[in-house]
Amino acid sequence: MDSESQREIEARAAWQGVSAAFAALGRTFLCVDREFRVIHASAAIDEILGEGASDRVPGRPVSDLLGPDLFGPAGTLTLALLGGERREGWRGHLRLNDSDHHLVSLSAAPFPSQMVAACDPRVAYVIVLRPSEQETADAASGPTSISALIARSPAMLRVFALIENLKHSDATVLITGESGTGKELVARSIHEHSPRTRGPFVAVNAGALPGELLESEMFGHVRGAFTGAVKDRIGRFEMASGGTLFLDEVGDLPLPLQVKLLRVLQDGTFERLGESASRASEARVIAATNVDLPTAISEGRFREDLYYRLRVVPIEVPPLRERREDIEPLARAILARVGARQGRALQFSPDALRVLLRHDWPGNVRELENALEYAVAVCRGQTLLPEDLPELVPQGPAFGTAAPPPPPASEEAPPAGPAARPGRVPATPPGHPGTRRAPRADPEEVERLRRVLEDHRWNRGAAARALGISRTTLWRRLREAGLI
Ligand SMILES: Nc1ncnc2c1ncn2[C@@H]1O[C@H](COP(=O)(O)OP(=O)(O)OP(=O)(O)O)[C@@H](O)[C@H]1O
Ligand SMILES: [Mg+2]
Repeated sequence: MDSESQREIEARAAWQGVSAAFAALGRTFLCVDREFRVIHASAAIDEILGEGASDRVPGRPVSDLLGPDLFGPAGTLTLALLGGERREGWRGHLRLNDSDHHLVSLSAAPFPSQMVAACDPRVAYVIVLRPSEQETADAASGPTSISALIARSPAMLRVFALIENLKHSDATVLITGESGTGKELVARSIHEHSPRTRGPFVAVNAGALPGELLESEMFGHVRGAFTGAVKDRIGRFEMASGGTLFLDEVGDLPLPLQVKLLRVLQDGTFERLGESASRASEARVIAATNVDLPTAISEGRFREDLYYRLRVVPIEVPPLRERREDIEPLARAILARVGARQGRALQFSPDALRVLLRHDWPGNVRELENALEYAVAVCRGQTLLPEDLPELVPQGPAFGTAAPPPPPASEEAPPAGPAARPGRVPATPPGHPGTRRAPRADPEEVERLRRVLEDHRWNRGAAARALGISRTTLWRRLREAGLI
């Protein structure tokens, strides 16, 4: 027997041994190459996917089997693996075809196959799976993702379940929650899981424009409708035809426009500004607000009839401090994403993670993202340390929640002192998280910043470049403007 076939026999025996050992533990595994294609699947996968699956799985992209949310090009686990990191205790749906989904728990890790002689050198990653039958019993155990949303808390898993349940629905949805909790992401996810997914997702911010401009933005106008209306223009409702109109900050909609919106929701018609003929709306409406609408109703700022028309399906996204289980999976996913964008594979030191877990996050997930962007920018090594984090300003008891316990000395993030870095800035200005803070900047400046940020999808690096200022200056101006 030549040495080549001897090696093959040894490799097969090693493979069978490892497969059997994993099967005895109730686990199956996939060996994946650099392109995220399955090279081998252990025989126990047949027990989840049916007879012969282990022969049909090799050659398929992992994203076909476990979904693009986890394993697509921007998937949470793809980014972690590309960054050289292991992930444990995730949940996903394993499938060979669209009609047959099996809930599994999974862990994935980079695999140094070159260092093990009996291994196929093409193997770059391994994914270990086990069936997860008790969907509800262990729902809170591992992080789950849907579209770009990541969570582990029962409260957010209920939101995910609702998104799933809405997938055949066209109902109007009202998403409420503090600023930065992920309302827009939830709206996008509902759209992506709806029959309108191939249609457009069009956002309009009711708080960003004054009345007449907003009306034209929403419903369009005809030439001559007002000074400056030099030609006909279609509005967002028409742009969203066949898709979803995301009406953000609906609590800020001026009363006359509330009447018009009510009419679209009631009988599906509207007029362009300056035109008498009615048009039919073909857009599904998802609205969001961080304003407490019942209070706005009692103060005469919001119409009660519109409120009930909007909240056909109400979804409340809880603040991050009320779902602390989500902080760690979010922080890890954000660190992998921000790190990957800058070609870095970073990990948290246990102390840095502890600081994040203890903070109250009055600015919610957006504040966490900002803090990690900052930390990645200043972190010099591979491990993110507490001193890399911006100063995290605790929420005071004056804001209706108990003050967080004082951090131990090693975790303290003082504005000055040996651990402080020059230019270190608070991630969040003090203020009530649920209401917009009174801007200190002039309103035109606030509007200009908001527009530039919106044009750049709130990517602060891109917005700073567009404005020709440094990120730190932008950060400071945003704070002054009350935008973060
Ligand atoms: N569950 C989540 N998983 C991953 N990213 C999230 C999650 N929730 C929020 N984010 C991220 O946090 C940021 C803020 O989310 P989003 O813009 O959806 O919040 P919002 O509630 O609409 O805030 P605002 O009221 O200020 O408009 C976004 O960059 C979003 O990608
Ligand atoms: Mg928003």
